[in-house]
Amino acid sequence: MSKVHPYKERIADISTINKSFIILALDLEPRYHDLKYIESLVSSLYPYLCAVKVNFHLILPFSKKTIEETNRIIHSYGLLSIADIKLNDIKNTNEVILRYLYSMGFDSVIVNPIIGENELRSFVRLAHNFRMGVISLAYMSHENVSEGYGLKIVQSSSKVSKILRLYEIFLKYARRSNVDGIVVGATHLKTLRHISSISRIPIYSPGIGTQGGNPKSAIDSGSNYLIIGRSILNAKNKRKALSKLLNLKEFKR
Ligand code: XMP
Repeated sequence: MSKVHPYKERIADISTINKSFIILALDLEPRYHDLKYIESLVSSLYPYLCAVKVNFHLILPFSKKTIEETNRIIHSYGLLSIADIKLNDIKNTNEVILRYLYSMGFDSVIVNPIIGENELRSFVRLAHNFRMGVISLAYMSHENVSEGYGLKIVQSSSKVSKILRLYEIFLKYARRSNVDGIVVGATHLKTLRHISSISRIPIYSPGIGTQGGNPKSAIDSGSNYLIIGRSILNAKNKRKALSKLLNLKEFKR
């Protein structure tokens, strides 16, 4: 295990080699819940990608064996696999889940920092022992995100009290816990710019295309990786959609 590089380095290396910062959200409709379809999709799109994100769309209906096989396919094309389960439970449960994800071949997992700084820190420590990465939510991509992640929180000590947004507190947890990435929606550019100006943690941004986010604006505002699902999956010509959506010539790194 010690020979495996940390997750953060591995995804950065693949991103450099493939000259791509795109993570495919493998949110397949039930009719495509098929390993042959997954293999044909990944084999066709892998040169444009650095990772594939797998969430409940597949984890719920698939067996452990099929998820292992999905991850084997993803790895066989030189990509990493991210489990998007927005993990949010007690320490013991989180650890059991992490061990399952590791045994199924995932390289990283998305967690919800509402579990708190101490829980996040010990979770990251365990994940790093497995050479897995942890990506922590900071500001989600959906429209009404401010009802949660934007809430104003009064933090008071004996001397002073100050008001912070919930995402600023989550950012502090992320920094102190040494997470490998944070999720900030490409749909909220002002917040994205704010976060990228005060944090050096790699930013993963969903919300491109179908949810209204623009890839160039997101990259210009500080996103390091773009998570894209429907705009690719629903396109007739998926490779063309990727190139077009990202206007790769203009800002390929
Ligand atoms: P689309 O089809 O909108 O898919 O490109 C986006 C994918 O990303 C997930 N998603 C998020 N995941 N934090 C996350 O961890 C977010 O703020 C967020 N917003 C969207 C979504 O479930 C889908 O897989």
